[in-house]
Amino acid sequence: MDYKIALIRGDGIGPEVVGEAVKVLNKIGEKFGHTFTYTDVLLGGCAIDACGKPFPDDTEEKCKACDAVLLGAVGGPKWDSCPADIRPEKGLLAIRKALGLYANLRPATLRPALADASPLKKETVDKGIDLMMVRELTGGIYFGKRDRYETEDRGTECTDLMAYSEKEIERIGRRAFELARLRRKKVTSVDKANVLETSRLWRSVMHKLAEEYSDVEYSDMLVDNTAMQIVRDPSQFDVVVTENMFGDILSDEASMVTGSIGLLPSASIGDTAPGLYEPIHGSAPDIAGQNKANPIATILSAAMMLRYSFDLMDEAQAIEDAVDAYLNAGYRTADLAGEGVTPLSCTECTEKIIALLK
Ligand code: IPM
Ligand code: MG
Repeated sequence: MDYKIALIRGDGIGPEVVGEAVKVLNKIGEKFGHTFTYTDVLLGGCAIDACGKPFPDDTEEKCKACDAVLLGAVGGPKWDSCPADIRPEKGLLAIRKALGLYANLRPATLRPALADASPLKKETVDKGIDLMMVRELTGGIYFGKRDRYETEDRGTECTDLMAYSEKEIERIGRRAFELARLRRKKVTSVDKANVLETSRLWRSVMHKLAEEYSDVEYSDMLVDNTAMQIVRDPSQFDVVVTENMFGDILSDEASMVTGSIGLLPSASIGDTAPGLYEPIHGSAPDIAGQNKANPIATILSAAMMLRYSFDLMDEAQAIEDAVDAYLNAGYRTADLAGEGVTPLSCTECTEKIIALLK
């Protein structure tokens, strides 16, 4: 098969890590008899520099013509002083909306070889961490109406509206239950139903789904309690489903407890192609261009692309196994190399992983 992939190399270390993931994809193509064709498009800071907009129309058109999108990272201090609507982050939000990517899958998995990197106690980590955060990505406070106005006696006042419809909640809920069926069959739905009306609606829709998916174990959890539980005992979670902003915050927390942000991939998918795949980490401008970045999160994002967009399960597994073999062999890039370990460069890391591809 021939698969068309749009590449958003982006800013900072983005171009380096995307380049490495492409090498791995090409090797997979060779081994399994697929062709991957790439189209380069701009998003974020580099798009602002080139055409004054973080999400150019050309990018939207070309992405929609592809089967999937692979993104490195966007943003950096260079664009910090740009006005709110032409910041790099705006490009990210706009592409999610334009491609209808309402489901953001963020696995937080502890790789046994890196258990020491977790900030949690050994006895907690030993129980294992393998949770899948399913974050609603195109609704809620991120996309609600915003306002800023002057008042007579209170100075400037602002509002950000959080809105959710039954339909939006149901479709993300279904994704979570379907995913749980392929995993440990457990869904935790996170909300703030003791305060927010959107959360009360969220909870009632989830309860209906829980009846329909009666083979899946279901529970509700308030978001503040969830934040505690993730550091107290992350092994209790399988699939965690939540609204956009709660998911933004909790997914950072969940990735931190695994101790290896540089390793975590993500997928953003809708009901139709293309899905978008990107590492969780940012653009790391401090090490950009130095061949020091850890490309694994982007390589694993490419594996998620094979699994979720192309249905290439064996190919995805081959990449994940090669990454595990790399870690088990003790190889480390600078972000993970402890004392006495000579770190591999970004390109050397990829060479090792490719050599370990079965
Ligand atoms: C993320 C990021 C983005 C978000 C920012 C950069 C807009 O934090 O993907 O989690 O808040 O969604
Ligand atoms: Mg975030």
